[in-house]
Amino acid sequence: MTKNILINGNMGYIGPPLTKHLMSSKEDYCLHGFDTGYFAHCLTTKDGLPERQLKAQYFGDIRNYPNQIMDGIDAVVHLAAISNDPIGNAYEQVTAEINIEASVEIARAAKAAGVKRFVFASSCSVYGAGPDKACDEKAPLNPVTAYARSKIAMEEALAELADDDFKVTCLRFATACGWSDRLRLDLVLNDFVASAIATGTITILSDGTPWRPLIHVDDMARAIEWAIQSDADTPFLALNTGSDRWNYQIRDLAHAVADIIPGVDVSINQDAMPDKRTYKVDFSKFSELAQGYTPQVSLEDAIRGLQAGLTAVGFKDAEFRASNLMRLNMLNSHQNSGMLNKELFWV
Ligand SMILES: NC(=O)c1ccc[n+]([C@@H]2O[C@H](COP(=O)([O-])OP(=O)(O)OC[C@H]3O[C@@H](n4cnc5c(N)ncnc54)[C@H](O)[C@@H]3O)[C@@H](O)[C@H]2O)c1
Repeated sequence: MTKNILINGNMGYIGPPLTKHLMSSKEDYCLHGFDTGYFAHCLTTKDGLPERQLKAQYFGDIRNYPNQIMDGIDAVVHLAAISNDPIGNAYEQVTAEINIEASVEIARAAKAAGVKRFVFASSCSVYGAGPDKACDEKAPLNPVTAYARSKIAMEEALAELADDDFKVTCLRFATACGWSDRLRLDLVLNDFVASAIATGTITILSDGTPWRPLIHVDDMARAIEWAIQSDADTPFLALNTGSDRWNYQIRDLAHAVADIIPGVDVSINQDAMPDKRTYKVDFSKFSELAQGYTPQVSLEDAIRGLQAGLTAVGFKDAEFRASNLMRLNMLNSHQNSGMLNKELFWV
């Protein structure tokens, strides 16, 4: 039977690969999207708008959400958010308004509209500066940024709303990487591949030892599909989402890129102070529950996918960290041109 899925925040980095994945699934999904379009034109594809695959695309701000679009929807996938630490630091109040207040209201309205499943894109950043051992879901939460605090607040609100008729899955994603038709370069592996291609070097500002769990966007899409269709009997789940094999040290990521892209130098700052932002995550519960939907992409394929995609669009910009492929730059640029106000509403 056709399942109607509404994806809030479908026009960002994860939305396009998620759309592609769900449309190629053996299940029959009918997709609807809602987005304010901050990054709508940041396309890194020549294939046209990814949203053409949807049944309907709605434009608007989740702070003024038209609840009626949830009529007849079976599952809501909630991606819409201020989606990283640098933007959360620059727009702390807006982060609380979008990521908590408006998002909680949408979850309440979804439940009232009879939506059966709510899938929330949470983050492993809820663990903050982690202890030495890998954090499982029982590890203490230690958020160190407005972004991470917003994810915890939303999870807590969802835990209260969840019941047998409104099942909630919070996927605590590792750091994303990999090719998307709306690529971002403000993510560690994507940055390394872009830097390797544009400059022939990868410069690591730390000593390279910090641990980071990563997940490919296609594997995020697989996890979201699992959460949409899973018949778990628990009303509420908060799950680390990634793979134990994808806990990497930063220097290993850099060397993996240099092994694949010829002629790349890796420079590591041997004198750097130890970086406190190091953490490993235990993904064993996810691999136990989500059999058939756990991560499949290899690191090598992730790097080759980024290399092929960037090459296909003629990417050569050595100054890419000042470009609109970094989300914070894009939002600042909309403001400087008078299109967005300080609250990130379109003027
Ligand atoms: N990328 C990662 O590493 C990562 C890791 C863990 C979790 N997540 C979470 O996954 C989700 C999607 O991430 P992404 O990388 O695609 O982010 P993104 O910033 O690329 O996309 C977010 C989308 O939400 C939309 N949006 C933001 N505020 C909105 C508002 N007020 N009204 C309507 N639409 C709004 C934006 O226009 C954008 O299209 C986010 O919730 C993010 O926190 C991402």
